[in-house]
Amino acid sequence: MKELENIKELFTTAIANVKTNDELNVVRTDFLGKSGHLTTCMKLIKDLSAEEKKAFGQEVNTLKVFVSESIDSKKIELENKAIEEELASMPRVDLTTPNSGESGSLHPVTIIQERLINIFRGMGFAIEDGNEVETEYNNFEAVNIPKFHPARDMQDTFYLDNGQVLKTHTSASQNRIMRKYGAPLKAIFPGRCFRNEELDASHENTFFQMEGIMIDKDISISNLIYFMKTMLSEVFEREVNVRLRPGFFPFVEPGFELDCSCPYCGGKGCRVCKHSGWIELCPCGMIHPNVLEMGGIDPEEYTGFAFGLGLSRLVMMTYGFKDIRNLNSKDLKVLEQTRIK
Ligand code: PHE
Repeated sequence: MKELENIKELFTTAIANVKTNDELNVVRTDFLGKSGHLTTCMKLIKDLSAEEKKAFGQEVNTLKVFVSESIDSKKIELENKAIEEELASMPRVDLTTPNSGESGSLHPVTIIQERLINIFRGMGFAIEDGNEVETEYNNFEAVNIPKFHPARDMQDTFYLDNGQVLKTHTSASQNRIMRKYGAPLKAIFPGRCFRNEELDASHENTFFQMEGIMIDKDISISNLIYFMKTMLSEVFEREVNVRLRPGFFPFVEPGFELDCSCPYCGGKGCRVCKHSGWIELCPCGMIHPNVLEMGGIDPEEYTGFAFGLGLSRLVMMTYGFKDIRNLNSKDLKVLEQTRIK
């Protein structure tokens, strides 16, 4: 029937132009909906003879099936197109490329540093960054080492043309951090340090330290011992003991060398602790009143401790490095060092 042929033609053009799901829904309503072409054309049936009615009914049905199947396949076509477009916009990874067998890994210094940061973060310490190029004031004067003080000889460094220095210790950041936060204050600040050294297996011109300070009312040496013991027991994953020996650093009073019972032999004596049962690990002490004052903190009201953990040393001990220079070498074997048992 002419009427149905028109509808079919109309539909074929309409469906061919569909580009989106919304457009497809419009076509569906236009043809199959309550007042769509295929529903309204049924009204014509009343003017037909009984014979014609049957044939017309069949033709309408065939057309309906054709229309709804075409709409269904258009829907699938649109869905596939959307997936293809999304895939095309994603970065391509070829999962069939053979693996070289090598994968990157973190540097041992980074691994130990991250571990320390997690431990101290858990104890409420802020994690701070320090500069590698520092003013002479921050590196020396602000930590109670005036010009011409003999203590400067212990930390000879590299002076830049502008008078600044490559920092010789993480203590150089103490002043800036005290001024930034004031008291009370708990912070650690790991960093790369530089010294003009005669190089050998245990001396390198570039190495890592991790400084910590805690300043509050009534901070005493007991707090220092508690934090050092907790931190070192976490690092070595076993209970260690600590002991203090007197040590001189102009920025602490009293100053100490902190030894840790050897985590490898439990204090019985082994090659790591050179059979003494103790390992010298961490200079520390109570922050000198002059240093607090220069940091803008009243030494009458507040006291604090500071420690300067030798991060490179700790890394060497943990992974059994015999030569500190390996830590800065570009030799990838460094990354394969295994832990001493
Ligand atoms: N800054 C000292 C050094 O590098 C270590 C230290 C830090 C000592 C904090 C005492 C307190 O030698």
